[in-house]
Amino acid sequence: METNLEYLKTVAATFTEEIAVAKLDTPAKSEEFRIRFLGQRRGVIPKLFKTIPHLPKQDRRSAGLLLNALRKEAQTVLEHAIEQYRVKSTDTCDIDLTLPGRRSQWAGSRHPITLALAKITDIFEHMGFAIAEGPEIEDDWHNFTALNFPADHPARDMQDTLFIEEPGEGRAGAMMRTHTSPVQIRTMMAGDPPFRLIAPGRVFRNEAITYKSYCLFHQVEGLVVDEGVTMADLKHTLTGFARAFFGEEVKMRFRPSFFPFTEPSGEVDIWWDLPDHPDGGRWMEILGSGMVHPNVLDAVGIDSERYTGYAFGMGIERPAMLRYGIDDIRIFYENDVRFLAQF
Ligand code: PHE
Repeated sequence: METNLEYLKTVAATFTEEIAVAKLDTPAKSEEFRIRFLGQRRGVIPKLFKTIPHLPKQDRRSAGLLLNALRKEAQTVLEHAIEQYRVKSTDTCDIDLTLPGRRSQWAGSRHPITLALAKITDIFEHMGFAIAEGPEIEDDWHNFTALNFPADHPARDMQDTLFIEEPGEGRAGAMMRTHTSPVQIRTMMAGDPPFRLIAPGRVFRNEAITYKSYCLFHQVEGLVVDEGVTMADLKHTLTGFARAFFGEEVKMRFRPSFFPFTEPSGEVDIWWDLPDHPDGGRWMEILGSGMVHPNVLDAVGIDSERYTGYAFGMGIERPAMLRYGIDDIRIFYENDVRFLAQF
């Protein structure tokens, strides 16, 4: 490129003027300015620098000083403009950028009941059980009558019912279900054997609230009906479950019991190690079970001569207490973040 020092001086003077009056009040304008004057490929100042080697030797130093000053000028103006936006954006922003970040200890976690329920469901699914559901508001027939609770029999008092409507003339007796056993009735009414299912859900009882009982809790119902199902199948399944849930070393016992809808009936207790307890621990009842009573099969229209079955109903809260070392059931429902955040 043909040039000389005089020409450079004129051009530099024009640019200096242009730089001095540039209004860089938006980031876009600043960027445009940067490209025009300082851009590596097309910027006018770098282009001028490229002419220096073509100048007569004695002029090159002066040209260098001149262009350096011009470049410095452009950079200063640009930096100043950018600094202005930074100040402006922190000035007008409502967020205090100097505050420490949110503490990760408040990150959400799954409720221990949800975790225990997921674990229980998983174990039974691996044993080939399907999952069923039923309503939380039941009627007297599904919750009691079909399950062989005799009318006006004190057996109904075993479970302190939260009634919505007393049963009677033309009234179904709406109530909060006291157990998940009515799901047995609903699924057997809706299909034909064989059945092999669990039914998890919430149940409600008008109970005194203590460290081990609450007015609301969760159960998982189990039901297997087929030809030739025996008590040995029941025991095998529940033993397998206890080992999978509590560990191979679990100490458990079957204890004879009574339920109107099973015959014979048994309850399962799990040994709870308590170092401070005089006996070193105590037995904790986790479920009721038994062979489905023929009257129940008859009530839902299943041939009780041909089919037999077993059923069980376990609480979730108590196994969760044992598994996670929690000694008071009430803490599950207090939603204390210090408790919940541990899971
Ligand atoms: N429904 C019973 C209860 O809530 C438990 C149970 C279920 C017992 C199935 C036997 C068979 O106590």
